[in-house]
Formats: sequence, structure tokens, C-alpha cells
Amino acid sequence: MKASSPASRYTAVAVGLHWAMAGLILFMIWLGWNMDDNEARYQLHKSVGITLLFLTIARIAWRLLNPPPPEPATLKPWEEKLSHFVHIAFYALMVIIPLAGWLLVSISPFQISTVLYGAVDWPHLPFTSGLRQGNELLHGIVENIHSKGAWVIIVLLGLHVAGAVKHEFDGEEGVLKRMMPGLFGQTSPPSPPARGAVVAFGSSLLLFALIAAAALLGSSGQASGLAKASGAEPNGNWAVDYSASEIGFSGIYDGKPFEGVFGKWTAQVAFYPEDLSSSAVSVLVEPGSVTTGTKLYDSTLREAEWFNTGAFPQATIVLSGFESSGEDAYVATATMTLKGRETSVPLTFELEINGNQATLDGSAVFSRKALDLGQISDAGASWVSDEITVTVKGTATRTD
Ligand code: HEM
Ligand code: HEM
Repeated sequence: MKASSPASRYTAVAVGLHWAMAGLILFMIWLGWNMDDNEARYQLHKSVGITLLFLTIARIAWRLLNPPPPEPATLKPWEEKLSHFVHIAFYALMVIIPLAGWLLVSISPFQISTVLYGAVDWPHLPFTSGLRQGNELLHGIVENIHSKGAWVIIVLLGLHVAGAVKHEFDGEEGVLKRMMPGLFGQTSPPSPPARGAVVAFGSSLLLFALIAAAALLGSSGQASGLAKASGAEPNGNWAVDYSASEIGFSGIYDGKPFEGVFGKWTAQVAFYPEDLSSSAVSVLVEPGSVTTGTKLYDSTLREAEWFNTGAFPQATIVLSGFESSGEDAYVATATMTLKGRETSVPLTFELEINGNQATLDGSAVFSRKALDLGQISDAGASWVSDEITVTVKGTATRTD
């Protein structure tokens, strides 16, 4: 068949996908080799990789609906077989490599979240949470499939380009023209009409949206309604003004300070400056309501390795043993219960009381180790400081 008949070209969509994906795949291999422990690069790698997975699904659907032009008749049978083998292997790898990458991050004990392009929470692969620990062999296998897969792509690319170039310049077929964007060759025939754009792109987009929506629903479900402080809590004589109060925390990450706040908490405050021994405060915090200003940190903090909000949706801080330490200054013992662990540290605070109004400003330093936070990924505190300062600020009105 001569290359100039209308059906001898790939459709414009197939050509666009081929070149865009070829460029992205080569970029991904370069990026994979150059991530240098840089979290932003990991996130970009994962974002582009998941995008490629969905482009692959759309591309395969597109190909099924729009069969490629027939091979040039001048192709020898072994050349045709080899070319088909390379194409099928490419498609297989374009599914296997990103899936292996997704599995790799899903079973990683580090539990770093994936936030696509800094905006869309991407879940771990379902049913993989049981595979996170004690599975070095599986980790090794998946990591090898992912990294060696890239080398297989490179070898295949050598064959692929050699074949394309040989058959372009060997005097007969013009194979490359079949895959060249129309604008590059005035002589190349128009693209054939395309079918099934809605089916091919719509179905993969829908799948993408469903997975993202399931993840979003899952995370917002966790952050719902905080239980009221139970009867075991002390009877409060102060009503906290939540809109003017804040529980936050700060520490060091990668040499730079970071901070966050908890959006959902309630406090029962029984505080008598004239009778400190009868004073007691109980705070219920929903760790899933954490915000740090960076979506990636918010999602990662909810993972099992950190707050594990799925299994432990609530934490408590109980203040007891109040003592005066100066004018308007106090110290109390803050006992935090988080992820079933309990630890006590001193909380120092200043409290100014004007009539019925009180203003509080205090802080306590907790150890991540004592609360089993990030102990698999960074027990030695090389990235995240072990000491995390929890700050409380607020106003309250006396009610008794
Ligand atoms: C077509 C898509 C992809 C390509 C071509 C690709 C390629 C690569 C390459 C070449 C490496 C370096 C491997 C090495 O250490 O030698 C790498 C590492 C990595 N990739 Fe991908 N990747 C893709 C998709 C993904 C996806 C979708 C994810 C996760 C959602 C992912 C997660 C990772 C991770 C976590 C590493 C680091 C592995 C390690 O440190 O051992 N990749 N990737
Ligand atoms: C990682 C990069 C690349 C990948 C994954 C890739 C993948 C593919 C696949 C899967 C096909 C088959 C399309 C189909 O029939 O369904 C194809 C066709 C083609 N590719 Fe690539 N490609 C890449 C890079 C390149 C490069 C650099 C060239 C330039 C020489 C090229 C030239 C072609 C041509 C000319 C065809 C049409 C072959 C034919 O009509 O038989 N590709 N490519």
C-alpha cells in the first residue's frame, strides 16, 4: 500500500497522544533517576505518572475504536512481527510501570500521600494496607519491576526508532510520515476521521474522577462531627470562644520551620485561680482536621504512619496539677493520648483575667517518639524534629 492513501495515516488524536506520551515517558525516566530525595519531584513524578496511566487507558480505547493504518506491504514478515511485538510491549509497560509505581507508594511503610499537582488527593491502591510492613521481598520485586521496566522501554525504544528511521529512509514506505503531525509534512495525507473520542476519553476521565472522588469523600468523612465531651469530663466553668481560640503545633521539617492548626476540637475548662487544686481541663481534638497550608502535609499527617486518623479519629489532652509560676503565669501537666499512646509533659501558660473574660497563651513540647509519630520513616529525626511544640491561644468567658 502506498503511504499517500488517506487511510495510511494515524488519526490526529493517535499522533498527538503518541508524541505527548513519548515526551512525558522520557521525562519521567529522567525524573525517576533524578529525584534526589526531593519531595516536590516525587510528587511531580507521581502526578505525571498517574496522568500517563489514564492517558494509556484512553489511548488503548482509542486504538480499539480507530484501528491503525495497515502496515506497508514492503515490510518483511519478521519486521512486521517485531514491530507488533514492540508496540504491544510498549502498551503493556505503559500500564505495568505506573501501576507498579502506584503499588510501590501504596505499600511503602513511609506512607507519604500522593497529591496530584498539589491539588487532588490520590488514594493508595485499595486492599494494600496489609502489605506495608514486613514485606521487603514484595517491595523489592515491585521496585525492580518499576525501575527495570524503564530500562526495557529504553531498549525497545532503540528498536522502535531504528525501525521507524529504516523504513522512512529506505526508499519505500514513509513509515514516519504516518505518525507525524500533519503540520510537519505538506505532502502527508489528511488524518482519517476519528471515532469514539467521547468513549475513549470520557471513560478514562470518569474512572479518574471516580477514584479522586472516592478519596475526597473518604477524607471528608473522617473529619466529620466531633463527639461532645463525655460525662467523665470535668464540669466547666469557662465557655471557650472557639472563633477566637486556636490549638496549633510547630516543628522543623527539612531545616525549615513548619506549623499547623487543628480545625476541630472542644474543651471543657474548669479553672479556679483561687483554687488551683480543683482545676481541670479536658480537650478533645480531631487530628484529621489538621491544616498546615500544604495539602501534601495535611494528607500525609492523616496516614497510618502519623496520626492514623482512620483508626484513631480522636486525641485527648488533659491538663492537671496546676501551679502558679508567677503573676498571671501557670504550669500544668498536659497528658496527651494519641494513637492509643499516652505521654505527659509540662504546659506553661499565661492567663490574664479581666472580669469574666480570660485570655490564654501557652505551649508544651511533645516528643514524636513518645506518641509513635513518623517512627518508621524518620525515627532518627533527620527530616522532622522529634520535638513538636503545641501552642494554645484563646479567650473564654467565666460562667459560674
Ligand atoms: C510511565 C510512568 C512512569 C515511569 C516511566 C517511571 C519511571 C521511574 C524511574 C526510571 C524511576 C527510577 C528508578 C530507579 O531508582 O532506578 C522511578 C522511581 C520511582 N517512581 Fe516512577 N515512573 C512512572 C510512574 C510512577 C507512578 C505512577 C508512581 C506512583 C504513583 C511512581 C513512583 C515512583 C517512586 C516512588 C519511585 C522511587 C522508587 C525508589 O526510590 O526506589 N512512578 N520511576
Ligand atoms: C518512549 C517513547 C515512545 C513510545 C512509548 C512509543 C510507542 C509507540 C506505540 C505503542 C506505537 C504503536 C501505535 C499503534 O499502532 O497503536 C508507536 C508507533 C510509532 N512510533 Fe513510537 N513511541 C515512542 C517514541 C517514538 C519515537 C522517538 C519515534 C521516532 C522515530 C517514534 C515513531 C513511531 C512511528 C513512526 C510509529 C508508527 C509505526 C507504524 O506505523 O508501524 N516513536 N509508537
